[in-house]
Amino acid sequence: MKFYDRKFAVEYDRRLAAEGYPGRLLERVEHELGGARSVIDVGAGSGFFAIPLAARGFLIEAVEPSKYMLDILRGKLDETTAPRIRIHQTVWEEWSGEKCDALICLHSLYPIPDPRAAIEKMIKSAARRILLVRSDEGSRNLTGILREETGRARDPGIFVRLVEETLRELGVRYSTAIVEQRRTGVFHDLDGEARYYCGHLGLKHDQFEKIRTIIEEHAVRRGDRYEFEGIYRDVLLIF
Ligand SMILES: C[S@@+](CC[C@H](N)C(=O)[O-])C[C@H]1O[C@@H](n2cnc3c(N)ncnc32)[C@H](O)[C@@H]1O
Repeated sequence: MKFYDRKFAVEYDRRLAAEGYPGRLLERVEHELGGARSVIDVGAGSGFFAIPLAARGFLIEAVEPSKYMLDILRGKLDETTAPRIRIHQTVWEEWSGEKCDALICLHSLYPIPDPRAAIEKMIKSAARRILLVRSDEGSRNLTGILREETGRARDPGIFVRLVEETLRELGVRYSTAIVEQRRTGVFHDLDGEARYYCGHLGLKHDQFEKIRTIIEEHAVRRGDRYEFEGIYRDVLLIF
């Protein structure tokens, strides 16, 4: 999996940080956590939520299988956050621990092989659960454009539907909210950008030229750099 690759993990963290992720999403998630104190972060990644939430006083159980994502997360700890984050290098399916006040799973459901079982486990593991999944509908970003133009477009609402169906089957009440973010990616090296997207989308190197051309067509050139403003539309499911 790409998150188990050191270079990909470093690049993931660098890019998202440069775009200002998670931005106002953090306040939204904090708001939804209400009065929770202990929080499980499923697929905590490089700590985009775990670190600032710990800084704000939450006690985090960070569940993350990738050693390289965790290396980055550890590098962000300081004397305030370190005592408030417990790190578990494992997949969610194998995590075992005490029930917490709340659980967050933010863009981490996609790589979990059995998302239904994962959701059932989330329900048992915390009193309040906050899941964030992408909805390609209304989104406009380079990943989506490249997918479309290479004939790899995704079903836009697949994860939202999957979570909703699972919760309905289990008889669990939930609420949803759409969250939209605009994030601008800036890059100087068109070849590097094309290489990243080939890796990110699992495309063979023979697609490199095509990917490079599509990026060049869609990005705005300003002097020696390129910019692309992406729109990301996600759905929060709270249950
Ligand atoms: C797109 S990242 C999101 C990370 C973080 N929540 C964020 O918003 O930046 C997905 C994360 O899920 C992790 N992951 C993959 N398989 C997993 C599993 N079975 N259980 C828990 N996390 C998993 C990946 O290693 C990766 O760090």
